[in-house]
Amino acid sequence: MAESQTQVTMDQADALFDRYTLPKIALAVILAASLVGTWVTTTLSGTADLLFVAAKWVYLVALGVLTGGFVWKHLFVRPADLGDEAADYCAEMYDRFDRIATTAIAVLVVGGTAVLWEYSVVFGRTTWVLGYAALMAVWLSLVIVTTRRSAAVERQFRSTVGLAVLILALAVVVATAVADVAMRGPDLVATGVRILHLLSFAVWVGGAVWNIFVAVPTGQKRPTLGVVRAAGEQLERFRWAVRFIIPTLFLTGIYQAVDGLGTNATSYLGSTVGLAVLAKVGFIGLLVVIFKLCPMWRACSPIEGVCELDDIGGDSTQESGSIDSEPTGEPTSDE
Ligand code: HEM
Repeated sequence: MAESQTQVTMDQADALFDRYTLPKIALAVILAASLVGTWVTTTLSGTADLLFVAAKWVYLVALGVLTGGFVWKHLFVRPADLGDEAADYCAEMYDRFDRIATTAIAVLVVGGTAVLWEYSVVFGRTTWVLGYAALMAVWLSLVIVTTRRSAAVERQFRSTVGLAVLILALAVVVATAVADVAMRGPDLVATGVRILHLLSFAVWVGGAVWNIFVAVPTGQKRPTLGVVRAAGEQLERFRWAVRFIIPTLFLTGIYQAVDGLGTNATSYLGSTVGLAVLAKVGFIGLLVVIFKLCPMWRACSPIEGVCELDDIGGDSTQESGSIDSEPTGEPTSDE
């Protein structure tokens, strides 16, 4: 009886810390933190309409999915990953991302129209607003061209148009941050801080989406040693980026909170905006815990072997074999 109860508890723990679960919870928390952030920003700018908040949030998420996706496509993937052993894996990942990008483009057009409307109401039809619209139009056209074209992965990877799309994506994130701060008056430091906050969010949400919806399903279909090694190294590059993203979001978030609401505890405990900001501090704490737990439960990826790159070692005799050894599930240290 006691044994069967222990077994049930272990099964429940396994299900809870299933290799899919933690990255998915992290994505949900990132989305929640960004929704609250968007609400805080729009409320402090005087546009508290919930439909507009939703439109702006989906705009920011779609922008992040594309920007973080392009970062993974051209920076977390490295030339060595396109070698014989993982070339097909990368090609299929690129195709999968193109399908996600198609949805993101549609969302961006709808959400972007609302954002453009907001900018033109606040700033008028200024050169700046027209410049933002032109930047969006050029970038989206190039994104459509690159996602529709089915060139070989080697021709897409770090191609001129591919890198242009990545740089323009970063430029759109920066332009959005600049405009969002400018709506409440010019402030150079606040602008720099918001650019860092928004860029960190974009790279994180885009990387999380790529990991869960692009890398994982593709890798599970081809669990060869070459694929596992490429997937593991790409994931580790993303995790390195997250090591910078977390403190950046925390520090820039605190700066913005103090800038907008001051340091008096009653401003936070006595208003909805203040409580929303406190919730964001909770979200980032939760994300830190998840980030630390992932490798302990070897739950960084459900692709067999990706979390155990060191265990796999460099045995070239198995180069194209399957990874069939089950991971032990034993806790390991993070670093
Ligand atoms: C300590 C943690 C955090 C704090 C204190 C914080 C605080 C803030 C504040 C005060 C704003 C509104 C800025 C303003 O309008 O003046 C904001 C906006 C925002 N935050 Fe955070 N934040 C934190 C973490 C996060 C995290 C983890 C994410 C998502 C990964 C995130 C995503 C966003 C987004 C998307 C916006 C909207 C920016 C815009 O519309 O331009 N924040 N945050």
